[in-house]
Amino acid sequence: MSLARYAAKYRIYGHRYERDRYAAPHMQAYQKTRSDTIITSIQRLGHQNGARRIVEVGCGTGIVLRDLAAAFPDWEIIGIDASRTMLDQARRRTAALPNVRLVVGSADAVPLPDSSVDAIVAVRFMHLFRPSGRKRLVGEFRRLLRDGGMLLLEFYNRPVHMLRYILLMLCMRRPPSTYQHHYPTRREIVSLLGGEVRFVPVRAAGSRLWHALGGDKGVQMWLETCRTVPGGWLFVDEYIAVSGQHNGSGEAGTARPTVR
Ligand SMILES: C[S@@+](CC[C@H](N)C(=O)[O-])C[C@H]1O[C@@H](n2cnc3c(N)ncnc32)[C@H](O)[C@@H]1O
Repeated sequence: MSLARYAAKYRIYGHRYERDRYAAPHMQAYQKTRSDTIITSIQRLGHQNGARRIVEVGCGTGIVLRDLAAAFPDWEIIGIDASRTMLDQARRRTAALPNVRLVVGSADAVPLPDSSVDAIVAVRFMHLFRPSGRKRLVGEFRRLLRDGGMLLLEFYNRPVHMLRYILLMLCMRRPPSTYQHHYPTRREIVSLLGGEVRFVPVRAAGSRLWHALGGDKGVQMWLETCRTVPGGWLFVDEYIAVSGQHNGSGEAGTARPTVR
């Protein structure tokens, strides 16, 4: 979908985006795990020579942006999004945080100089693009990242979504259109990003039930189980791929999931 079409889609849908996507109680636990994962990864970055700048592309209504700005008060936190409707909500959410800057624009042409960013974050964003679009985006991210910078990109996990796809197909009797490119395999992500990639699960299928049974603790326990028990990765729904800046040397990456 083109940038203009996304902007048009979110002009209308943007008003009920949060209600649709994040209102359920188990999604609060997910939001916290997602932000904590991103923040602790960036805290591990050596930043003596850093720009002290984080960019979140497709930042939407600013949920992660707000958490980043609060965790890194001396850094500049830039959110870029194609939709004014989404950014207006982000603006309201981060109004009290002076280190946030919001930009209406495209993630594949970020108006910042080369090597001027420590970390680039994208959540619930990369799945919007086909493989060629993802490749173009990663090229832009590498241009922006300083040497030793970090990419933190969230993806949906293929097995759970393959199952959902098959069930939907059986129930609806028509194939949903976006299965393959929406959910790349971890091997495909390693080949996209190059080098070492760390995969950190942030949400598991069935969290709604676990929340009903045990609240936030129940959700965390279930996620931890999926993370550590053999075969548990099959139940992971969303994860963050964390990659240091690739130096272009083409060294072999690893598709083995490593966890914090
Ligand atoms: C599914 S929403 C995710 C929003 C937010 N990251 C979240 O997790 O709640 C995708 C966002 O990406 C934005 N978007 C889509 N294509 C874009 C592009 N090429 N450049 C910048 N933002 C884009 C949309 O406007 C929308 O706000």
